[in-house]
Amino acid sequence: MELKLYLQKKRRLIDDFLKNYISGKKKSKDCPKTLREAMSYALMAGGKRVRPILAIASYEAAGGTSKNIIPVAASLELIHTYSLIHDDLPAMDDDDFRRNQPTTHKVFGEGTAILAGDALLTDAFHIISNTRASRKPLIKVISELSGGAGPDGMVGGQQADLTLEGTNATPKELIYIHTHKTGSLIRASTRIGALMAECSPSRLKALTLYGEKTGLAFQIVDDILDIIGTKEELGKTTGADNAKGKNTYPSTFGLEKSKKIAEDLVNESLKAIKNFGKKAEPLAEIARYIISRRN
Ligand code: IPE
Ligand code: IPE
Ligand code: MG
Ligand code: MG
Ligand code: MG
Repeated sequence: MELKLYLQKKRRLIDDFLKNYISGKKKSKDCPKTLREAMSYALMAGGKRVRPILAIASYEAAGGTSKNIIPVAASLELIHTYSLIHDDLPAMDDDDFRRNQPTTHKVFGEGTAILAGDALLTDAFHIISNTRASRKPLIKVISELSGGAGPDGMVGGQQADLTLEGTNATPKELIYIHTHKTGSLIRASTRIGALMAECSPSRLKALTLYGEKTGLAFQIVDDILDIIGTKEELGKTTGADNAKGKNTYPSTFGLEKSKKIAEDLVNESLKAIKNFGKKAEPLAEIARYIISRRN
């Protein structure tokens, strides 16, 4: 299977949906122009769209065939983009560069950046509740997404990341940070695909495990790329974790061991989906891509 083509195809579906979403905001009499421009600036700057693509790939692996997955998958990107806007704020990671352009607060100011994040988070749920898909899985999807993004998930991980900055976190604390700040939304992405496909509990369990393993691997690789990657490749400032005293896998375990941990996680994720056959090929390819990626 040609992963590049698969990713391109799915990315286009998501980008088309997002473009339409922003056009809708342009037509709205009620959404202020500055707010809409800040939302669009962050959302349409590119980004790999990994979470929506994972949701679609998981949906297809679980037997789903309808286009109803697209709005739900795109809502993951709204939430992810909100998390990046807030993550870059001076009160958090204080980063000036993201997705190959100055960060949202650098261009629009902190107040508007905070509100653009709030707007994307809230609209994610608005989009889901207005899709044509059957109500039954949608309620589960809303529960999954709010759980994964909220204080028991991503926001909890971000809090721990901040609280423990400048300290030597224990391995247990480090695992909490990474499985929550990044792992939770990625786990939610694969689970949402499975829930939308209304698959069997055993398949849901397998796709959950796949999401957990790849989600943690994704953040470990993000830490590694902060050290070995370049600003040109990543579209964001490198070397930032060390400068801020962040707890990362390389700072705790060293670079080589971190790579090995990420590889082992990817192998475990592949094992989790081994019974799915051909339909899960994209998921397998995405898992391999997660450790080989350069951006
Ligand atoms: C960056 O996420 C932040 C993390 C949670 C590791 P991505 O690497 O998915 O960033 P984009 O969406 O491609 O910009
Ligand atoms: C970000 O982790 C996690 C979330 C945004 C939820 P990082 O702080 O490591 O992400 P980057 O490196 O700034 O993209
Ligand atoms: Mg951060
Ligand atoms: Mg950051
Ligand atoms: Mg990082």
